[in-house]
Amino acid sequence: MSSLDYLLRSSKLVSPNKIYATIPNKNDKTVANITPGIIKLLENQDPFSSVIDSIEQKCITTIFTNQTVLAQSVHHLYNLKGYPIVLNIDLNLHDYTIIPSLKDLNYTTFISTTTEKLIENNSLAYEIAAKYNNPVLHFIDSSVSVTKLQTTSVDLPPLSLDHYFEEQDEEDITELGPLTLPNVELTISSANVYTLIVNLSPYGSEFIDALPSNAVLANISVYRPWDNKQFFDLIPSSVTKIVIVQRSNLVSNTKTFEPILLDFFQDFNALISRGIDQILVTNVGELSKTNIPNVLKQIVDNVNSEKTGTPPNQSLYIGTPYSVDQSQKNVDLVNKVFSLEQAYYKVLRQLFSGDNLNILNQYDSADANISSPEFGFGKFLKIQQDRDLLIDLAKTLLNPTLFSNPKIIDLLSKWIQLNVEGKSGEPDLVEANRLSDELYELLVADSDSKGASQILNFINFDKKTLFFESTWLIGSDAWSYDIGASGVHHVLTSKKNINVLIIDSEPVNNDNSINNKKLRKKDIGLYAMNYHNVYVASVAVYSSYTQLLSSFIEASQFNGPSIVLAYLPYTDENDSPLEVLKETKKAVETGYWPLYRYNPSTAGNPEDVFKLDSSVIRKALQDFLDRENKLTLLANESPDLARSLEKSASDVIVAKQTRRAEAAYNQLLDGLSGPPLHVYYASDGGNAATLAKRLANRAAARGLKSTVLSMDDIDLEELPGEENVIFITSTAGQGEFPQDGKAFWDTLKNSGTDLDLASLKFSVFGLGDSKYWPRKEDAHYYNKPSKDLFKRLELLSATPIIPLGLGDDQDADGFQTGYAEWEKQLWDALGVSNIAVPDEPKPITNEDMKLASNFLRGTIVEGLADESTGAISASDQQLTKFHGIYMQDDRDVRDVRKAQGLEPYYIFMSRIRLPGGKATPDQWLILDRLADEVGNGTVKLTTRATFQLHGIVKKNLKHSIRAMNSTLMDTLAACGDVNRNVMLSALPVNAKVYAQVSEIGYKISEYLLPQTTAYHEIWLKGPDPKDYDPSWPSIFQNRKDGPKKTLVGGNALVDVEPLYGPTYLPRKFKINIAVPPFNDVDVFSIDLGLIAIVDQATQLVKGYNMYVGGGMGTTHNNKKTYPRTGSSFGFVEPDDVPRAIECVMIVQRDHGDRSNRKHARLKYTIDDMGVEIYKQKVEELWGKKFGPEQSYKFKSNIDYFGWVKDETGLNHYTCYIENGRVEDTPDYPQKTGLKKIALYMKNNNVGHFRLTGNQHALISGITDEHLPSIKNLLKKYRLDNTDLSGIRSSSSSCVGLPTCGLAFAESERYIPTLVDKLETILEEYGLRRDSIVFRVVGCGNGCARPFLAEVALVGKAPETYNLLLGGGYCGERLNKLFRSSIKEDEILATLKPLFKRWALERQEGEHFGDFCIRAGIIKPTLEGKYFHDDVDEAAL
Ligand SMILES: Cc1cc2nc3c(=O)[nH]c(=O)nc-3n(C[C@H](O)[C@H](O)[C@H](O)COP(=O)(O)O)c2cc1C
Ligand code: SF4
Repeated sequence: MSSLDYLLRSSKLVSPNKIYATIPNKNDKTVANITPGIIKLLENQDPFSSVIDSIEQKCITTIFTNQTVLAQSVHHLYNLKGYPIVLNIDLNLHDYTIIPSLKDLNYTTFISTTTEKLIENNSLAYEIAAKYNNPVLHFIDSSVSVTKLQTTSVDLPPLSLDHYFEEQDEEDITELGPLTLPNVELTISSANVYTLIVNLSPYGSEFIDALPSNAVLANISVYRPWDNKQFFDLIPSSVTKIVIVQRSNLVSNTKTFEPILLDFFQDFNALISRGIDQILVTNVGELSKTNIPNVLKQIVDNVNSEKTGTPPNQSLYIGTPYSVDQSQKNVDLVNKVFSLEQAYYKVLRQLFSGDNLNILNQYDSADANISSPEFGFGKFLKIQQDRDLLIDLAKTLLNPTLFSNPKIIDLLSKWIQLNVEGKSGEPDLVEANRLSDELYELLVADSDSKGASQILNFINFDKKTLFFESTWLIGSDAWSYDIGASGVHHVLTSKKNINVLIIDSEPVNNDNSINNKKLRKKDIGLYAMNYHNVYVASVAVYSSYTQLLSSFIEASQFNGPSIVLAYLPYTDENDSPLEVLKETKKAVETGYWPLYRYNPSTAGNPEDVFKLDSSVIRKALQDFLDRENKLTLLANESPDLARSLEKSASDVIVAKQTRRAEAAYNQLLDGLSGPPLHVYYASDGGNAATLAKRLANRAAARGLKSTVLSMDDIDLEELPGEENVIFITSTAGQGEFPQDGKAFWDTLKNSGTDLDLASLKFSVFGLGDSKYWPRKEDAHYYNKPSKDLFKRLELLSATPIIPLGLGDDQDADGFQTGYAEWEKQLWDALGVSNIAVPDEPKPITNEDMKLASNFLRGTIVEGLADESTGAISASDQQLTKFHGIYMQDDRDVRDVRKAQGLEPYYIFMSRIRLPGGKATPDQWLILDRLADEVGNGTVKLTTRATFQLHGIVKKNLKHSIRAMNSTLMDTLAACGDVNRNVMLSALPVNAKVYAQVSEIGYKISEYLLPQTTAYHEIWLKGPDPKDYDPSWPSIFQNRKDGPKKTLVGGNALVDVEPLYGPTYLPRKFKINIAVPPFNDVDVFSIDLGLIAIVDQATQLVKGYNMYVGGGMGTTHNNKKTYPRTGSSFGFVEPDDVPRAIECVMIVQRDHGDRSNRKHARLKYTIDDMGVEIYKQKVEELWGKKFGPEQSYKFKSNIDYFGWVKDETGLNHYTCYIENGRVEDTPDYPQKTGLKKIALYMKNNNVGHFRLTGNQHALISGITDEHLPSIKNLLKKYRLDNTDLSGIRSSSSSCVGLPTCGLAFAESERYIPTLVDKLETILEEYGLRRDSIVFRVVGCGNGCARPFLAEVALVGKAPETYNLLLGGGYCGERLNKLFRSSIKEDEILATLKPLFKRWALERQEGEHFGDFCIRAGIIKPTLEGKYFHDDVDEAAL
């Protein structure tokens, strides 16, 4: 008889106490099965779930089981917490590793290896279980004690424990002191021993008898509670080496990390201060008693082997392992999981037997495709689809006449039912697959029947097709960066039975992490929980192994999507387990990585739905409850608030526990606590949205249960039931609600008076601009939505908490001025103004993003790999700009897609860095091809003389960049806070000068190029399946001027940005080079302009006049922003140019405003500092002085269309491309035409293309012999039109709608029709040939340099523009506001009489801009900072 059986027979608990025993089958002849009064549970039927259903707090439950069943039931063990239960566990596999693996349950744990211990521990176990109302684990090694028990007739003490329950009431539980028990029995053989053997094996007494004189023995009989201090106090101070001898069946020749070591490493500092320099584990199997002295000697020698110069064997195994069968597996787990790299992966593999687990993506594969979770998810959907078809087929075959064997029908219907239940825990799977196996065999035997043959043919005689599996996807934390937009989202919404394991390996203090990354990673769990039908767990193998196992098992059993977030922090694969342990500890203890499980399948009892498993959060919860109490006091002044707090004042323990669980859930879910405050916003540009989110955060910090949502998400039926609601709306259009508030407002406005909001308390804050529509008659547009909303809510009987608040862009601090006052009133009114709130985290700025990006890497690679969304994360959107890529969305389809519940149609614009605007035919051809294959079918020539492709979807981005690079074009630094594309005059008339400026343009561009290797790494490195040509990577590698890393101290190759530093420039930086008399590049419009001074005799460029501080961008109605023309710094010789520019840039880098991007451009730095001081600083850095400016004369800033011949005899044709859009229209197949020309040029090895800053193209360098052919092509494709009206040839626009996210009004799509109308007017006055520089842009950013135009329209709202007049014809003078916010009728009506006057009154050669000034129509803008001065009243 085994010791356990003995115990069973002696266990006669007094009713209502219960005794359970697990048995392998009903016919089992074990003591458990034949002893009366014992409830038997079949081992393969999830026995612990039956126990959990009937456990009670006021009676003792005893469970007899074995370690195999216990390991399988580990996920239930948490649910036993709070109940007096004694678990007697037979160590049937003779493997003690299970004991430490359950340590984080913190249940009292005894180990009995002798009769005496068994009796002593048994009685103690009951006492403790009853007294502390908690389970006690009692591990019994029957192999040792069995004989002794048989011969010893010891009666167990009576096991009635009623007296405990009679005396005790619930409140007393908390008053019980901590339980202390002696953990070890110490045997000291002699003084001054160095080696301690900690014994976790059954050979305790044998070890005592054979203990060598140089060792101390500590036999563990109580494993929990464990007190490290008590332990170390007990052992002699001479001990420096500890060897833990553990009974295990796992013979491993690799170094493994045992969980028991964690007990010792918990307090690493204590080990150090105790002088312990070695701790290791030696595993033992079956030992021959006679050999024990040798074994002990071997153990002691091993731990001391360093003295002999050999390091100790970390995987020493002595003895014979117990023969391992299938059931050993779960126990072995413990030893295996702690290997670093694939810890979680291995646990999964071992939790499920072979066929029962399906890991869809090969997580460890180097092939990015098959390792990606998205790939796995696609595979899963396919499997599901096939399975659904099979189920449908099976359903149609549930007809006895179709099979000869009637049992098939029975099995088939069970099989269908199993599919519906969708349970996929290992025991369920074993059962289900046994059934599937049987079904398959019967089908094969019955294959002649119609039904069986149909099924067999459908599954292609593949048995596995009928089987059930636990299905898993494994992803890294990259998936968590953009939760809403990542693959996680797809899994969640699929509602399918799939499990996702996301392994997060980022340590808490990873300097590379962007602050908000951490937040977002935590949020993935909250995000998933919000779905209410997803199993979510947050686990950490080095913090709680039991919790991890529970989570995996529960996730798998859950019929629906499950997400397990698993933490394994390491910086290097060689990190030791100790380092990982320390990191994990830090993360869990600081609350960075909370441990929890959310299981909605247990809905009904909130306590069961959400389980918080990490103790630190419990402490945080305590703080939360304390704060709630404080709130009660505060809220007394406000009876309504108190209501919701009173409810939680119950002091019944169970209620308190429930509340804690709920509160923990709430707190985790959205940082909730206290009374509710719902914040709803409507916002077009983001101001109102940001404000609303900030308000909600601040409310949460004050203890309010705040939520924040867009007005779009308001459920009008729910609104009356909400208590405190705040609305924040900005103003769009003309006094209209922003897009995301329109639907709500329409419904509310038309809701009649039936909607009763009497119990709603509300307030509204509005954002507006009292001058957006400056005319007096438009004053009512100011903040109209917020005013209307406030009135409407009052009418529907809602009660204002505080009056309406209004923010005005015109106030000193913009809308913040009004907001600050209003928010203060709100806290006062809610009674929470006196609460001390922690400092708010600073918002993440572009500067933070740059700094944290690791030289422009960010998470771009991960974002590109995430195929579940077309988007990339917000910070990557900023970083990709440095790579020449902008994320946009097609605004034309925004609403439709939103209505369909789809994300916006995300597309990318990719801009090329094309120094000097020169392109080879090959380059043209590749862009033409890409435009068709991955773009929107057009190529855009930009206002900075380069190419842009629009409409590229994310998955094609990498391919596009690679294709461009195959012809040696890159997009690096085409956007971003760096020097961008260097633009220069197209200069078709002068080859010699062009060659010189072109060379310097290229030199400057290369000189100022960022040095980061991120671009190469992200886009170009290695082959790509989409490459048109497999030789591409070799082309990229061989680029002589390609990016290089720098060797720094320690021989590490790292990125270094010697010029820019890790935060690059405060804002973008642009350089243009003009060659008088042509100012086609608008040399005064940008940060740094160079005007080439040419020696007319030699045609050599003597040097350049440098202009610094130009810039176009403005924000409507923000007078602190203005356009500016560059200020003259003087003359620079060609060789000095790059360094002089670098010095200008360094001053801007170091003095530019990095706190306000609207004030960060060089133009503001130079005005704030003063031009002379700026110049001096540059000269100091440079060590040279600028020479006096040399004279030059510009005659225009436009292009001249048609053919010219340069002095070398080469021909150049400037081709008119309307607004730079190279496209095919039925009338003008220009794109095809230019492609044919490029092909001709390539085939005949002649010529190149040049782009102009006015968005036109030159076919350049054509020898006379090819002239006829090119001319033919121009004619054929209608590219030969040079007979353009004056205004058309000098007009341009920006891209604007639909792709530019900043556009308020149409530009590129509108300008052609508007020019048609202007042409008609001009013709009327005989002005068709007269050129007027006319520019239209969609917003104040001014991409097409509108502020230098003679006539400009700057978009303000749909179909509404500001009209500006008075710019200089040569781009030398800024214009000024003439009329604001006017529509087409007014535009035409305003311009018509002015054109007429110009026709009649102008002086010889006088341009329209100059005329407007001379005639007093508009005042001149002589300097940027005076742009807003002298604006006529009528303009406003
Ligand atoms: C196209 C446009 C139209 C606007 N129309 C108005 C208006 O009619 N009345 C008003 O008070 N403010 C108007 N504004 C000012 C905005 O409401 C204000 O700048 C606000 O801060 C923008 O907030 P948002 O970023 O949340 O949209 C308008 C702004 C824009 C860009
Ligand atoms: S000017 Fe404004 S609308 Fe036009 S492209 Fe530039 S940012 Fe977009």
